Amino acid sequence: MTAALAIQDYALLEDADCTARIVAAKEKLGDRVVILGHHYQRDEVFRHADFTGDSLKLAREAARSGAEYIVFCGVHFMAEVADILSRPEQVSILPDLAAGCSMADMADLARVEKCWQELGQVLEVETEVTPITYINSAADLKAFCGRHGGIVCTSSNAAWILEWAFTQRRKVLFFPDQHLGRNTGYRMGIPLEEMVVWRPGKPLGGLTEEQIRKARIILWEGFCSVHQMFRPEHIDRFKEKYPDARVISHPECCFEVCQKSDVIGSTEAILKTVRASEPGTRWLVGTELNMVNRLRQEMKPRGVDVHFMSPTVCMCSTMFRTDPQHLAWVLENLVEGNVVNRIQVPEEDARYAKQALDRMLALG
Ligand code: 13P
Ligand code: SF4
Repeated sequence: MTAALAIQDYALLEDADCTARIVAAKEKLGDRVVILGHHYQRDEVFRHADFTGDSLKLAREAARSGAEYIVFCGVHFMAEVADILSRPEQVSILPDLAAGCSMADMADLARVEKCWQELGQVLEVETEVTPITYINSAADLKAFCGRHGGIVCTSSNAAWILEWAFTQRRKVLFFPDQHLGRNTGYRMGIPLEEMVVWRPGKPLGGLTEEQIRKARIILWEGFCSVHQMFRPEHIDRFKEKYPDARVISHPECCFEVCQKSDVIGSTEAILKTVRASEPGTRWLVGTELNMVNRLRQEMKPRGVDVHFMSPTVCMCSTMFRTDPQHLAWVLENLVEGNVVNRIQVPEEDARYAKQALDRMLALG
């Protein structure tokens, strides 16, 4: 082991130099390292991933990986999940520690515990309410769900998870993404009036006791700043021009956008659906720009047109933080025997969070 290489020495490197150094470092590390890449990663990083996928697929890859080092090209909560699901001697690394998720930050343990305690003034929470956290959340919130008989969900399994939750208790507290909760609940047949929004910071979440008693799903007031940019009028305008076009959206989009979409799915499901379409199909896609641009390039030679839903650029700025410079930096440090940017969830949180994650993974 030598002194850790400094990120400052990488900041001015050209992408092409980084690419060569990443390839060389990967070769030296061999199967000691695995690189997981979320679909929203920029091309210059995405091309180095050994496995790509949505949050669920990547969580499963992390759980089954035998590699000593799991380098997660994604955001903070994903590297936490990799740490929780991997063996204790494996090391989870996030190339840029500033790669967070603004939606995940909208719920924190103190406010969720306060919400639970306030709901407890109206309901028997431990027997009446299953807490569900979207995987886009901090590890201590997953641990909260583990402790209280709850579970984790992702954008690809939210419907099964809600169904499971209702077999346990008759109500659900869903955080942090209100849209995923609402869109999924509605598709399962729960009327909008039975899904209420909990506004943290307001007494009783801004709800009356009556509203809480009647609700089947209590939705935390969180959202994704990227997906909220897609609006129903974007779909209307596009359909005026291309009436036969199909619309596919991520379930983090608002209710009105999902209602106007032909298909709703996780990033992996969006890719699979568009890839399976016939030549001549035209798609309007409501999810992050890097992924849509890559899909557009891939499908063009196959005669499938892919359009981005918003007229403005909607990139996930935190996913974008992982650049070839940071990836080269963490890998070359590993070659030198130095671990930088390790993500390690405190043991107690990890134990309970794993219970909530295992419940999800066991549902298939
Ligand atoms: P997926 O699990 O569908 O990849 O979504 C992750 C995410 O953060 C979407 O904004
Ligand atoms: Fe978080 Fe939205 Fe970025 Fe996904 S796209 S990582 S939900 S901020």
